[in-house]
Amino acid sequence: MLYRQIIQNCFESHVGKHGLTDGEFRELRERTGPVIDGLKQVHESGELPLLRLPESHADLDELKPIADRFRNSFDDVVVLGTGGSSLGGQTLYSLADSGFGPRKGGPNIHFLDNVDPDTFELLFEQLDLTRTGFIVISKSGSTAETVAQFIACLDRLMTLGGRDSASKHALVITEPGRNPLRSLANRLSLPVLDHHENIGGRYSALSVVGLLPAMIAGLDAYGVRAGAKAVLDATLFGPDPRESEAAVGAAIQIAFLKKKGIPNTVLMPYVDRLSNFGLWFQQLWAESLGKDGSGSTPIRAMGTRDQHSQMQLYLDGPRDKLFTLMTLDVQGQGRLISNALVKEQELAYLQRRRMGDLLESEQRATAETLVNNGCPLRLFQLDRLDEEVMGALLMHFMLETIISAGLLGVDAFDQPAVEEGKVLTRQFLSEMG
Ligand code: PA5
Repeated sequence: MLYRQIIQNCFESHVGKHGLTDGEFRELRERTGPVIDGLKQVHESGELPLLRLPESHADLDELKPIADRFRNSFDDVVVLGTGGSSLGGQTLYSLADSGFGPRKGGPNIHFLDNVDPDTFELLFEQLDLTRTGFIVISKSGSTAETVAQFIACLDRLMTLGGRDSASKHALVITEPGRNPLRSLANRLSLPVLDHHENIGGRYSALSVVGLLPAMIAGLDAYGVRAGAKAVLDATLFGPDPRESEAAVGAAIQIAFLKKKGIPNTVLMPYVDRLSNFGLWFQQLWAESLGKDGSGSTPIRAMGTRDQHSQMQLYLDGPRDKLFTLMTLDVQGQGRLISNALVKEQELAYLQRRRMGDLLESEQRATAETLVNNGCPLRLFQLDRLDEEVMGALLMHFMLETIISAGLLGVDAFDQPAVEEGKVLTRQFLSEMG
C-alpha cells in the first residue's frame, strides 16, 4: 500500500452534525461508477493520454540523455513557466531539495513562475549564466508571462555568448504546430521538445513537463510512473472501481460540497517535501472544478506551521471546511533532542524524544482536536515518501479531481474564465504610453 486514506472522521457518527450520513456518502460513491466507466473507455481508446503515461517508458528513455546533459553541464537550471507548466515540476523537485540545495549532486533548480522584474535582476546578478541552463515550458506557447520571461533570459544569454550560447543553454517545451514560442525557437535554432497536445498543464506532472526537471534533479522518473500506475490500475481495473481510493475521495469531497454545503477543502500536509504538493493540488482543484457556479475552494495549509496561524479559525470559525491531513510515520526518527541541554522542568516532555516524535505528536494532536471540535477530517497516512509514493499521490489527486468533475457535471480540462484576463492584459500592454 503506497498510502492509506482514512475517512471515518468524515461521518456524523464521529464528528456530529457537520459530518456525512452513510446514505449521503453512498449516494455519491454509487455515482462514481458511471464516471469511472467513462474513464475506462477513454483509457482504452487513448483519448485521454494522461491515462496512458504511467505505462510508458520509451519517452523517459529518450529524455535521459537530455536530463544528463543539463545535470552535468550546469550548476543552475532555471525553469520558466507558470501554472501547470511549473507546479508539477516544483512538486517533484521538492523530493530532491527541501530548500537547502540539491541532495544528489545535481544542479540547483529554480522555478520562476512570476514576472516580478526585481526577481529577474537578482537572477542575472547572482547566477553565473555561463553555467546556467534554461528550460522554458508553455503548452500553448503564447502565455505572456512565460514568453516575456524567456525573452529576458535569451537576451542576456545572447549578449554574453551569441546565438550559439542560446542554443546550448536553452531548451523549449511546447506543443507541436504553430505558436509564438515555437516560432521564436525555430528562428533562433533552439532545441525544442514536444509538449503532449492533449495533456493540459495541470495534468502534466507525469509528462516531460514534470519529469524532465525531476530527472535533472537525479530523481527516479520510472518510480514516479510506477506509483501512478498502481493507483490508476486500482481505480480502473480493481474489483469494484467505486471502492477505489480515488472514487472514495471524490465521493467524500462532492458529498461535503453538495450535501453539506461545505464550500472549502483544506489540504494540510505535515511533510515539508509535500509543501509544493499543496500548491499543485490547489491549482488542479480550482482550475478544474471552479465552473458554472460550481466547485469548492482549495486551501493549502502546512503542518505544523499553520497550527500557529490558521488553526484558531479552523477550530472556532465558520464550519465551512473539509480537512485533509497528510501525515508521514516519523515516530522515532530524526535528531535526538539533547538531554544535556534540556534541564528546565517545563521542557521535561522533550527529554529522550526525537524531532520525529514531536512531529508525530503534533499531527496526531491536530487530527484529534479537529475531530473533537466536530470538524470533518480525512487522513492520508504515508509510511514513506519517495518517487513511487509521490507518483501515487499525484495520480490519486488527478483522478479524484477528474471524477469529482464528472460528479459535478463540469469539464475538468478547460479554463474558459481565465481567458478574459489574458485578453485584457494584452490590451493594457498595447495601450501603455
Ligand atoms: O493548467 C493549466 O492549463 C494552466 O495552469 C496552464 O498550465 C497555464 O496557464 C500555463 O499555460 P501554458 O503552458 O500554455 O503557458
